[in-house]
Amino acid sequence: MAVVLFLLYAVSATLSHVVLAATRPNVLFLVVDDLRPKLGCYGETNMVTPNIDQLAAKSVRFERAYVQQAVCSPSRTSFLTGRRPDTTRIFDLVHYFRKVAGNYTTLPQHFKNNGYVTQSVGKIFHPGSASGGTDDYPYSWTYPAYHAPTVKYTGKKICPGPDGKLTHSAVCPVDLKTVPGGSLPDIQNTDFTIDFLKNRSMDHKPFFVGMGYHRPHLPFAYPKEYLDLYPMSNIRLPPNPYYPPWLPEVAWVPYGELKSYDDVNAMNISTFGIVSPEYTLKLRQSYSAAASYTDAQVGRVLQALDQYGLADNTIITFHGDHGWQLGDHGEWCKHTNFDIATRIPMLVHVPGVTANKVRRGKMYPFHDALGEQFQSKPNSQQSELVSDSLVEAVDLYATISELAGVDIPSTCPDNSLDVAFCTEGASLVPIIKNLTSSTGSLTSWKPAVFSQYPRAKVVPTNEAPDTPIMGYTMRTDGHRYTEWIAYNHTTFTADWSKVYARELYIYSNDPDEDVNVAEVPAFQDLATSLSQQLRAGWRKALPTLTK
Ligand SMILES: *[C@@H]1O[C@H](CO)[C@@H](O)[C@H](O)[C@H]1NC(C)=O
Ligand SMILES: *[C@@H]1O[C@H](CO)[C@@H](O)[C@H](O)[C@H]1NC(C)=O
Ligand SMILES: *[C@@H]1O[C@H](CO)[C@@H](O)[C@H](O)[C@H]1NC(C)=O
Ligand SMILES: *[C@@H]1O[C@H](CO)[C@@H](O)[C@H](O)[C@H]1NC(C)=O
Ligand SMILES: *[C@@H]1O[C@H](CO)[C@@H](O)[C@H](O)[C@H]1NC(C)=O
Repeated sequence: MAVVLFLLYAVSATLSHVVLAATRPNVLFLVVDDLRPKLGCYGETNMVTPNIDQLAAKSVRFERAYVQQAVCSPSRTSFLTGRRPDTTRIFDLVHYFRKVAGNYTTLPQHFKNNGYVTQSVGKIFHPGSASGGTDDYPYSWTYPAYHAPTVKYTGKKICPGPDGKLTHSAVCPVDLKTVPGGSLPDIQNTDFTIDFLKNRSMDHKPFFVGMGYHRPHLPFAYPKEYLDLYPMSNIRLPPNPYYPPWLPEVAWVPYGELKSYDDVNAMNISTFGIVSPEYTLKLRQSYSAAASYTDAQVGRVLQALDQYGLADNTIITFHGDHGWQLGDHGEWCKHTNFDIATRIPMLVHVPGVTANKVRRGKMYPFHDALGEQFQSKPNSQQSELVSDSLVEAVDLYATISELAGVDIPSTCPDNSLDVAFCTEGASLVPIIKNLTSSTGSLTSWKPAVFSQYPRAKVVPTNEAPDTPIMGYTMRTDGHRYTEWIAYNHTTFTADWSKVYARELYIYSNDPDEDVNVAEVPAFQDLATSLSQQLRAGWRKALPTLTK
């Protein structure tokens, strides 16, 4: 089995976990909605995320990981099918890839086909019509997807307003004793996953669990105790809380998602307007509190994995479905091509390979969500295995397959609508091997990673779409380069001859992507060469590995 070979390669000296040779490794696939790398393990020293930090300390932590489109269903469909949005044809929250593209074998489906018990808990596929109304059951999952009973209050008025009346607000700390349903979805989903793990520890069937957390997605509904972790005096504004100079209007999104909440809606913010500094701080505080609440739920699952004796034989991946703008560039939510919207936290834990043996044992202190005070802020555990390589969420399919020893999909042909099993990503196992062996000899990796975002109009308005546009963006080591071009949503074809706008950011001078220099005469040679690289696309950026 591939995993055995892999282990032999990777841990030459201390190969004590031959456990994996006997039974097939389980997979715990953790996905967090709207989580940007605002975590202790990513150097955010004010964040309280001890459980995720401890997972990071026994994982490879990818410092530069990107999604293929910065919104839920397109991103999720991409990493779950191992293909990019142009191939899944999913750019919105409505369509279903099996109807508009092809009958692709998804990552969990691949494990199901290989004898695994597969279970979706919470938000893995985007629910509703975007996954056939069933979260892609029965294709992907052995059992119907589980959704917490309290998920029915999503979109309802559950947040106590200043006058005590319930509102539908973005900032929404709740009292678990009085909140409708008496709990919150992530807590109930976590309870289910713990029960599922307990059952697997008794029946010994290999499993693939997709555990999808709802927070820190809006509304920021979390147990109010988590606010105590983030005193207002510690909250800072983003470094760039304004509309960037020279940003083409097509690149901007008026963050209608945030404006749909009662508290923000009441502020009457215009299309290009920005949230006040005072409310920006409040929203940033609640995002952090919601992330800590999610961290506690992650800790409960990891603790159960240890408790039921499954940790030694379970591969764990952890990632966000896209980044999140917290007033950076004056923007909110996702829906753009900026780094802050496309970059995600991504961790890959392989027992016995990425784990530091010294740290085994008491790994995951669980901070009770029901009012117990945090003792003191735990120190973030720094990961020892950090990769700076440019990687993509679309790479997870081949990576997890290779780690678990099931068939690894090969690279898709140009037109793969009729090919059920292939990928447009690359396995990250060479990077993991390079980091865990004492003689790392991987010399090169992807020179660029790719994302995209559609727009209906050159200038954002609420009118019906008239100018279908696709913004294709590429992140290289030193630059981000974007072209907003014509795109036909009937034929699914891009017209590179019709360019509406371009963006170029040079990180050596402008790490936060504040100044678009695409039209500055001095940078035209650079822009031309990056344009050629963008148009050549991901296929030309696949790693060339010498076996
Ligand atoms: C899609 O593929 C599955 C097997 O993966 C098969 O059972 C099903 O019939 C296919 N559906 C269509 C419409 O081809
Ligand atoms: C665990 O097993 C019990 C007993 O068979 C069953 O009632 C329960 O639904 C199972 N839980 C999960 C989450 O699969
Ligand atoms: C927002 O607009 C409404 C209706 O036009 C008005 O009643 C309200 O006072 C405005 N609020 C602010 C904060 O400007
Ligand atoms: C592989 O590891 C070596 C040293 O261990 C490092 O110098 C090199 O940059 C790594 N290669 C990649 C592509 O990360
Ligand atoms: C897209 O292509 C179809 C079919 O060729 C054509 O009828 C339609 O006008 C095109 N749409 C746009 C916006 O160019």
